[in-house]
Amino acid sequence: MRTSANPQVTSDASWWRDAVVYQVYLRSFADGNGDGIGDLGGLRSRLPYLSWLGVDALWINPHYPSGGADGGYDITDYRAVDPDYGDVADLEALVDDARRLGLRVVLDVVPNHTSDRHPWFQAALADPDAPEAARYHFAPPSAEPPNNWQSLFGGPAWSRTPDGRWYLHLFAPEQPDLNWGDPAVAADFERTLRFWLDRGVSGFRVDVAYGLFKDAGLRDNPGAYSPTLFGHGPEQAMTWNQPEVHDVWRRWRSICDEYPDTMLVGEVCLADLEQVALYSRPDEMHQSFSFRLLKSPWSAESFADGVRTALDAFGAVGAPVSWVLGNHDKDRQVSRFGGGALGTARARAAALLVLALPGSAYLYAGDELGLPQAEVPDEAKLDPIFFRSGGARAGRDGCRVPMPWNADRGVGFSADDAATPWLPIPADWDQYAVSRQARDGGSVLTLYRRALALRDAHPALGSGDAAVSRRGDVLTVRCTAADGSVVRCVVNMGSETALVRTRGTVLLASTTGVRRSAGSVALPADTAIWLAEA
Ligand code: NOJ
Ligand code: CA
Repeated sequence: MRTSANPQVTSDASWWRDAVVYQVYLRSFADGNGDGIGDLGGLRSRLPYLSWLGVDALWINPHYPSGGADGGYDITDYRAVDPDYGDVADLEALVDDARRLGLRVVLDVVPNHTSDRHPWFQAALADPDAPEAARYHFAPPSAEPPNNWQSLFGGPAWSRTPDGRWYLHLFAPEQPDLNWGDPAVAADFERTLRFWLDRGVSGFRVDVAYGLFKDAGLRDNPGAYSPTLFGHGPEQAMTWNQPEVHDVWRRWRSICDEYPDTMLVGEVCLADLEQVALYSRPDEMHQSFSFRLLKSPWSAESFADGVRTALDAFGAVGAPVSWVLGNHDKDRQVSRFGGGALGTARARAAALLVLALPGSAYLYAGDELGLPQAEVPDEAKLDPIFFRSGGARAGRDGCRVPMPWNADRGVGFSADDAATPWLPIPADWDQYAVSRQARDGGSVLTLYRRALALRDAHPALGSGDAAVSRRGDVLTVRCTAADGSVVRCVVNMGSETALVRTRGTVLLASTTGVRRSAGSVALPADTAIWLAEA
């Protein structure tokens, strides 16, 4: 494994248990060469910002050469860097720079499917008898597709090859599913993991980790997929969560165990969190995301249930919860929670809740600026969800719009101010720019920075035990550290001011409107506080 000359990152085998991991949507983070596309050079130049913000690690969305059909999740070469982003040397330099600043770098890996432009799929198209054909799911020509499986992006999960065969794609047609029954597939991914681990990365976020294997008999799914559910359940039992997949994670875990301080975090979109937690048993992936709060409406009941269910499910397997409030697949929190001042107040309160809870927290780039979902005109949209649903689903472009950095320079996303960003940035986004918020004591950015500093300093925040209670619209999480110190996070999710009785100290409030009097705190609607209990 590569080591840096001046490593600030110190060895800590379980750093991931309570890490704050910042998700970098590479294409939208910072454009270092002025072509309108975020890149590794741009990200490198912004590492001091991430260190100043106070996060522990970054996870980078796919950086690989790609067919461009699904935001980089259709990969043509797993052991290379897309020229839009730089090259492998740039990635190594990023890892080294990050390490010097005390930051770890986690990559995305996509094992469920490749791009249709991947050399394997191209070989399989050219010759049905090529060994590469066995690495995908093909079915002989017939009038109807082999079964009722659906693409998560809309429409059937089977498309035809030019010679009339069917092939399976649980996402876009440009993303043929791999056949994990073929040993060549597993062997190649092991090479990929080692390729990047040898370059000093601290692990992987594993895309569609609940996929890979499919029902061997290709039986029909009992029910239809619904994007509004917490995740897949029995209705999709033939396409997801097959028992064989756990052996893959055991194997990947044993590879990571050869590299100190590395970790795997799985994307496991199953409705039943007890099933999700099974992916993070001690010999499988270190973590798997809990998407409950990402999908919960703004209600104390729903959030309390989401927090309790996650703590119980992951606690049962000895894994920390990996909390997620936003990512590149979901509408921005500010908009989900009602938009404008209301949505912003709620997003601020939610940030304090998530950063108090024990476990790791994954922050999506731009959420620390309180970015809303951007309006992306239809003609600028790129997400296959928009196209495959015939426009019925808006798609995910609105949460992938480039970051506003500098209010004095347009928004300062590109090294060249005149560059056209790959997705249009709303005209008024200079108001969210880092340069502006960093100087404003009341900004969302300042709140995140304070919260992260306190989380670092206070043993009861981000680790220890949590007890969840709810009184009407007020949710309380009591966090107790190993040394006995206690911080209570109280969130008022109702529409009336709530009186919180306490003799403790207010460490942080999500708004300035919190009034303290002897023995109590008046907590306005849509507000959270951290109380250090005496
Ligand atoms: C989950 C990723 O987060 C999403 O962006 C992608 O479209 C699908 N997996 C398919 O790879
Ligand atoms: Ca660029």
